[in-house]
Amino acid sequence: MKRRDKELLMTEALAAREKAVAPYSGFAVGAALLSVDGTIHRGANVESVSYGLTCCAERVALFKALTEGQRAFRAIAIVARHDGGVMPYGACRQLLFEYAPDARVLVADAAKPGSIREFKVANLLPGAFREFTRG
Ligand code: THU
Repeated sequence: MKRRDKELLMTEALAAREKAVAPYSGFAVGAALLSVDGTIHRGANVESVSYGLTCCAERVALFKALTEGQRAFRAIAIVARHDGGVMPYGACRQLLFEYAPDARVLVADAAKPGSIREFKVANLLPGAFREFTRG
């Protein structure tokens, strides 16, 4: 992926972050998921008074894209105001592994959106659970 394209996707994640619904943590996270066909789906975290029901920005973006019929992804940009950016946590890594295994994960601090760190999904979840046998 070209540097310019990574920056554009991060700009989308920054815009997504503006829509975060984070009244409890006050920690706004934005994500932008790029499909192979060029479509971008934005997501932001949505929190609940029952904290555990919170949904991360990455999952919101992924669920939006999947339910619009997208199945092949190139990259996901994630941005928050945190030194070095935030890494997706375990639940999101699992879902990215299942549905966006080939996507690059791009993370940045909202205060330095041009400093992008890049990861492969597979490297974020070694030994991932991928299938089970019934019974
Ligand atoms: N959060 C995300 O949306 N993505 C991450 O990768 C890390 C954490 C959200 C969940 C919660 O609303 C807030 O950040 C604090 O954990």
